[in-house]
Amino acid sequence: MAFAPPSPAATDRSATLADSAAPIAALRTQLGDDAVLCEDELAARARHVWDARSIDAACLVRPSTTEQVADVLRLCNAAGCHVVTHGGRTGLAGGGDSSGSDVVLSLERMRHIESLDRAERTITVQAGTVLENVQHAADEAGLQFGLDLGARGSCTVGGNIATNAGGLAVLRYGMMRAQVLGLEAVLADGTIVSSMKGLVKNNTGYDWTQLMIGSEGTLGVVTRAVLRLRPATPVVATALLGCERLEQVSELLGMLSRDLDGTLNAFEVIWNPFYRLNTDTAQPDHVDAPLERNHPLYVIVESRGSDEATSARFGDALENAFGQGLITDAVVAGSENDRQRLWAVREQIEIALKHDPVFVYDISLAIGHMQAYLDRVHAALLERWPQVQFFAYGHLADGNLHLMVAPEPIKPGAVVRHGLGEASEATLGAEAFSDRIVYDALRALGGSVSAEHGIGTKKKRWLGHSRSEAELTLMRTLKRALDPNGTLNPGKML
Ligand code: LAC
Ligand code: ZN
Repeated sequence: MAFAPPSPAATDRSATLADSAAPIAALRTQLGDDAVLCEDELAARARHVWDARSIDAACLVRPSTTEQVADVLRLCNAAGCHVVTHGGRTGLAGGGDSSGSDVVLSLERMRHIESLDRAERTITVQAGTVLENVQHAADEAGLQFGLDLGARGSCTVGGNIATNAGGLAVLRYGMMRAQVLGLEAVLADGTIVSSMKGLVKNNTGYDWTQLMIGSEGTLGVVTRAVLRLRPATPVVATALLGCERLEQVSELLGMLSRDLDGTLNAFEVIWNPFYRLNTDTAQPDHVDAPLERNHPLYVIVESRGSDEATSARFGDALENAFGQGLITDAVVAGSENDRQRLWAVREQIEIALKHDPVFVYDISLAIGHMQAYLDRVHAALLERWPQVQFFAYGHLADGNLHLMVAPEPIKPGAVVRHGLGEASEATLGAEAFSDRIVYDALRALGGSVSAEHGIGTKKKRWLGHSRSEAELTLMRTLKRALDPNGTLNPGKML
């Protein structure tokens, strides 16, 4: 199929819908009419799990095979169209945002689990496979998958790879990049690159697969992956703890890492204000408070193992921690129901997220600096907004905190947004102020402006706080080499 060379207008961000007419017709011819959604069909598609507005794009294309993904990229790259790839649309950094002339490439038709090899402990999937389906397939085979996060029911393997997702079990199994043993991707010009051997050891030149992981759709489109599975850990012991000070929590982490013999699976911390918000009975979506609401800090600890010694060891370790004064209160789950109740306190993030406005952060820094950092940020926010609510919780073992800043207090029954929505000028100004407070203090301590959510559009202007000029230049060199026309997810990350 022949295309005119890209016109200057077509490679410009301000390209119009009309510029996309020819490529859309070509996509229909190549993939079939029902693979390309425009106008009303597109209007029926929500742009994000928390934003019901329609996807803003020239069209949404749904390839079924890697070859069709290659067709889409070849056509779009030649026609000067921009391509934004969508997985489960649960990201929090704006990496999946699109505008009117973009082609959105959805992997929703590529959700097939191709094979599972019990002996090699690998699973081979298409990139549109939902994370939870990988977890279930692994469980059914008597194994488990090492990645878990709140969006498990919607997010996809491709999105997890594109963002190098983290989540709740990173301290034991690492981030998404540690789960990937093989990858297939399509480059901007439609070239298919495949390294699907699934070998743990494979030092044969540059590992381009790792370069794709965390590239947020800017270097290629992941189409298939071989993922590593782990031995099952059917015995689970979970507790919610009340603690006084972060130094004690940090000591507790060291003690459990040592005494639980490698079975520590999660270590999540919640500062008091977030616990109080989520357990506030005046909030319609509150969860029950398993412990008193006055502890400065709460920790969810979970140990997972293959035999009953796991639970006994867990009980001993907690007793020991009590004896040493590291914990002031505790509730241990006696059943799976109990366990879900404890986790609900941590996984309920929507009361805060739906408030308008609220500014959300995903940062990492050394645990030893955390409390002083939080105190400094809170004091600076209070100076501008005397009523500000400042929430902190996160994956403490990974040095990863999520912060939420609500300049106006979150009142029960107040008007909340039901999507991320369009922000007003005043809100954008307030967010810029809050960003500066949060990120400047972080830079001074050598932290990272994104621990696990990525850069997308939201943190783009702060990337230089965590990366040097030389690193940014290297990133731009890589981008130019792999996507010289700027076809893939332009305007994101760099
Ligand atoms: C969490 C998401 C926001 O950990 O990363 O709750
Ligand atoms: Zn998180």
